[in-house]
Amino acid sequence: MSEKQATELVTLTIDDVEVSVPKGTLIIRAAEQVGIRIPRFCDHPLLKPAGACRQCLVEVAAPDRSGQVRPFPKPQASCTMTVMDGMVVNTQHTSEVAMKAQKGVMEFLLINHPLDCPICDKGGECPLQNQAMSEGREVSRFTDAKRTFPKPVRLSTQILLDRERCILCQRCVRFSKEIAGDAFIDLQGRGGGSSPVEDHAFMGEQIGTFDTQVLDFYNPEVGEDAGLPAADGLAGPYGNPGYATGLHSGPLGEAEKDTTGRPFASYFSGNTIQICPVGALTAASYRFRGRPFDLVSTPSVTEHDASGAATRVDIRRGEIVRVLAGEDADVNEEWITDKDRFAFEWTKGDDRLETPLVRENGELVPTSWADALDRAARGLEKARAAGKNVLLPGGRLTVEDAYAWSKFARVAMNTNQIDQRVRSTSLEETQFLGSRVAGTGLGVTYKQLEKAGRVLIVGLEAEDEIGTVFLRLRKGVLAGTVKVSVVAPFTTPSTRKMSADLLRAAPGTEPEVVNAISGELAEELSDGVILVGERAVETPGLYTAVANLADRTGARIAWIPRRAGERGGLEVGLNPNLLPFGRNVADADARVDMEAAWGAPIPTDDTKCTVDILAEAATDARSAMIIGGVDSRDVPDTQALKAAVENAGFVVSLEVRKTDLTELADVVFPVAPASEKNGTFINWEGRLRPFGQALASRALPDREVLNRLAEEMGIELGLPTLKAVHAEINELMDWDGARIEAPAVAAEPVRAPGIGNAVLATHKQMIDEGRLQDFAPELAGTARRSVARLSAATMQSINVSEGDFVDVSTDRGTITLPVAESDLPEDVVWLPECSVDSHVHETLGAKNGSVVSIAANTEVTR
Ligand code: SF4
Ligand code: FES
Repeated sequence: MSEKQATELVTLTIDDVEVSVPKGTLIIRAAEQVGIRIPRFCDHPLLKPAGACRQCLVEVAAPDRSGQVRPFPKPQASCTMTVMDGMVVNTQHTSEVAMKAQKGVMEFLLINHPLDCPICDKGGECPLQNQAMSEGREVSRFTDAKRTFPKPVRLSTQILLDRERCILCQRCVRFSKEIAGDAFIDLQGRGGGSSPVEDHAFMGEQIGTFDTQVLDFYNPEVGEDAGLPAADGLAGPYGNPGYATGLHSGPLGEAEKDTTGRPFASYFSGNTIQICPVGALTAASYRFRGRPFDLVSTPSVTEHDASGAATRVDIRRGEIVRVLAGEDADVNEEWITDKDRFAFEWTKGDDRLETPLVRENGELVPTSWADALDRAARGLEKARAAGKNVLLPGGRLTVEDAYAWSKFARVAMNTNQIDQRVRSTSLEETQFLGSRVAGTGLGVTYKQLEKAGRVLIVGLEAEDEIGTVFLRLRKGVLAGTVKVSVVAPFTTPSTRKMSADLLRAAPGTEPEVVNAISGELAEELSDGVILVGERAVETPGLYTAVANLADRTGARIAWIPRRAGERGGLEVGLNPNLLPFGRNVADADARVDMEAAWGAPIPTDDTKCTVDILAEAATDARSAMIIGGVDSRDVPDTQALKAAVENAGFVVSLEVRKTDLTELADVVFPVAPASEKNGTFINWEGRLRPFGQALASRALPDREVLNRLAEEMGIELGLPTLKAVHAEINELMDWDGARIEAPAVAAEPVRAPGIGNAVLATHKQMIDEGRLQDFAPELAGTARRSVARLSAATMQSINVSEGDFVDVSTDRGTITLPVAESDLPEDVVWLPECSVDSHVHETLGAKNGSVVSIAANTEVTR
C-alpha cells in the first residue's frame, strides 16, 4: 500500500458500528479495530491473504455504481476482501447468515479432524479447539469413519506432521514461501479424499514436502532399485500408485540437504509449528512433553545471536521444555530462528558446574564459596601486584555482567587488558568500533532496514549469522523497498533468496572490491545502509574500506557481531582500548571522567588485542588470566589460547559448564546462564533488550561473583544489585568527548596460493556444533551438510567431481569433506566452521585468507 493510499480513509459500518480505516484495509482488520473478532484460521497479519479455510465468512453489502447498497449474493471471506466506502458488514454477531456459514465451515473442518485434543500438543492453545467451542455446533452430525493417515510423518528430525489434523489453511506453506523463502512444504493432491481408486491415489489434498521419500510415497524397490524410472516407485499412503508431480524437480545437491539427507533444510521451520492453527505440525523435541496449562511462561530475548529477538520461555516443573517466538513489531515481528527456538538444552549437561572448584594436588575439587573466593582473591592479589594480567570474559554476557567485568579489570586488577573478543581481533576493528559504533545509541533499526533502499552486506552471511535480519531484508526485497548487494566469495542460499547482487571477492580482496564501489551502487548507497559483520576483522583493511565507503557515499553503517553480548560488552568497555560508551583509554579527559565515576585510577598498562596477547602469552607467561564464557574453538589458533592458559601463573574461570579451559583453572566459579538471571542484551541496532529470569536457580550471575571477589580482595566494586549497575551505567552513557582515531589500514597484497593450494574462506552456519546447541539432537539433524565448496575450474585442477571427497590440510591437520560445486573464485575453498567434520580453527589452525592445501581423497566414499 502506498503512503498516499494509507492516508486515504474509507468509512464503513461493521455490526452497526461506523469505522474509518485506510483504503486497502481488509474487512477482518477493520473489524479488529472496533473490537469485533471474526473467527479465522488461515488469516495471519504477516502473511498474504489466502482465503483458504473460509472460517471468516461474513455478510457484506456494498454500494453499486449508482450508490445503492446491495448485498453480495453469498457470504464473503473477510480476510481477503478489502473495505469500500459505504460498505455494510455483518458478522456472526449480527447476521444469522454469517453465523450459519461459519458453523457450516466449522462442521466441515471437523468432519475428518481427529478428536485427539487430550493428547494433542496444541490442545489448550488451539484456535480450532477454541473456535469449535465458541462458534461450532454442540453435537457432531458426522457418524462415519474419519479419514486417517499413517502418522506422524517426519518432515525433518525436528518437525513432525500429523496429516489428519491438518485443516489445509496453508499458513505453513505461505510462511515458507513468503517469509523464509524455503519452499519445502506445499499442498499436494486435490479434492476431499476418498478410498484409493485407479486415478485418485493421494487420498485428497494434503500438506507435504516435495521429497516423496519423506512422505513415504516413494518405494525404490519398484522404482530406481528395480532399474525403472523413479516415478514408478511413487506410491500413495496405502501403497497405491502415486503422482509423479510429487517428485522434487531435478537432483538435489549435497549442500541442499540437511544432515539426514532430506531437503527440509530451513533455518526457520519452527515458525510453522507456532502458526499452525491446529496440532498438525509439532516439534519432535516437545511432542507429548507438556500441556499449555502446565507451563509457566517468561518473556525473554534470544541468547544465540545479536538480533535481540523476543522469545517466550516455557517452563514445566522447573525445566525449560520449549521456547516460542515472542511478538515485537520493532524487532523480530513474530519470527525467530530454529536455533533461538530449539537450542535451550545446553545448560542441562552432566558437566554443569554446581559448586565452586579449586585445585588441590593437581585435581579440581569442589569447595565452598567462601573457600573459593578466598583462594581466588589471594591469587589475584599477588597477580595484581606482579602485573601482566589478562581478562577474557567472552561475548555472551548481559550488559550488567559485562559492566562488572569491565570495572573489575580496571579497579580490582588494575589492568586495561580485558577483551571480550575471544575470536579474531585487530586494532583496526577497535578503531572502527570506537569511532563508529560504541556509544552511538540506537542506530539503523530493523524497520529502517526494511525500507533502506540499497543495503550492502560485508563480512556477514545474513541468514547463517543473524536470521531475523535476513528475514527483514527479504521482506523489504519482496516489497520492493530494498535491494541487496553482498560482498562474499560465492552465492549463498541467502544471497539467492534475497535476489542480491554478488560482488564476488576472494578472501583478502574484499577491501579492493569495497574501494572500487562507484557509479549507481555508490549513488544508491547515499541513502542506504552498510551492514558489516565481525568477520571483517579477518581481512586487514576491510573495516577501513567500509568506513571510507560510508564517508564518501553518506551510507549509514550498522555493525553486526555474532554473539548476543558483544554490542553490550563494547558499550561498557570490554575492549583494552575502550572505556565505557566509546571513551578512549588514551584520552586524558576520558580517563579523568572515568576516574571520577569509579573513584580509582584508570590503569596505564599495555592495550593489546586478544590474538596478540595470546601469541605473546604462549611463551611469555601472564601472572593471571580470568576467563569467562569462552569457547576455545572460536579463536583461530586454539592451541595458542590453551598454551597461554596453561602458562599463566594463576587462572580463575567463571563458567556455566566444564570446558577444556575450566580444566586448566586454579579456581572455577559456577555462574548462571541467561535463563537463570535477569539482565539486558543490547542488540545490533543498539536497542536495549531487557529480559527476566525464567528459571529458579542457585547459580550467581557473573556480576555478583565479581562483586564478592572484589570485596574479598578488599575493594569496593559497588555492584551488589542490578539497580546499582543501572545507576552507574546511566551516569556514563552520555559521552561526547574525543573518540579513538578512525582506522586507516591499507589492504595487504593478495598472493596467489600456488599449485595444490587454495585460499580458505569460512564462516559458521546457523546450526553447527557450538556449545549452545549441545543436547539438541533434533535440531542438530536439521543442520546443513558439511561440504567443501570449490569452483568448477578448481575441481578440475585437482580432478574431483561433485560428491567426491577432498582433503583440505595445513601442517596442523586435515579436514575431509564431500565437494560441492559453487561459483567461488578460482583457487578458493570454502569450509563450514565449527560444523560436523569441519572444525577449521581447531583442526587446521586457519581462518579466512589462510592458505591451505587441497587434494582429492579417493579413499573415502559415501
Ligand atoms: Fe495449516 Fe497446519 Fe495444515 Fe499447515 S499443517 S496447512 S499450518 S493446518
Ligand atoms: Fe478467512 Fe481463512 S481466515 S478464509
